[in-house]
Amino acid sequence: MEIKMFQFQQHGDHRGQLVALEENNDVPFDVKRVYYIYDTGKGVRRGFHAHKCLKQILIAIKGECKIHLDSGYETAEVLLNKPYEGLYISNDMWREMYDFSEDAVLLVLASELYDEDDYIRDYQKFIQFVDNKGEK
Ligand code: TYD
Repeated sequence: MEIKMFQFQQHGDHRGQLVALEENNDVPFDVKRVYYIYDTGKGVRRGFHAHKCLKQILIAIKGECKIHLDSGYETAEVLLNKPYEGLYISNDMWREMYDFSEDAVLLVLASELYDEDDYIRDYQKFIQFVDNKGEK
């Protein structure tokens, strides 16, 4: 499986670091929504869905967590632990997030506004969705 990791430019100087992200430049879509996940309890695993359209970039801006990706025929595990690194997740990828460090803040840049109708939360329906796209 091809894992698309973006290495963002760090504007570092003696004061510290700064990363700036522009839509359709550093991030390959219009950023319509930003949300972040923090104070995640020990042993929590979340996500468990794919999307019909939505694309995302995930950035562990503090701490770390792991991402399980499932294309319907291949799986991968990605460790996010750098605030200047972004994981691109296409819509047709089942994702689960886990092993959050206590201090983890996971920032998500999303290509669409929140729309529950865009979620595929049933794994069998996800497999059907992938099948119907002729990718399997
Ligand atoms: P949920 O989809 O369960 O998060 P995850 O995919 O990380 O497991 O979302 C948790 C709650 O937050 C749920 O009640 C829906 C709400 N929510 C919004 O209102 N807006 C959003 O942009 C997102 C991502 C979630």
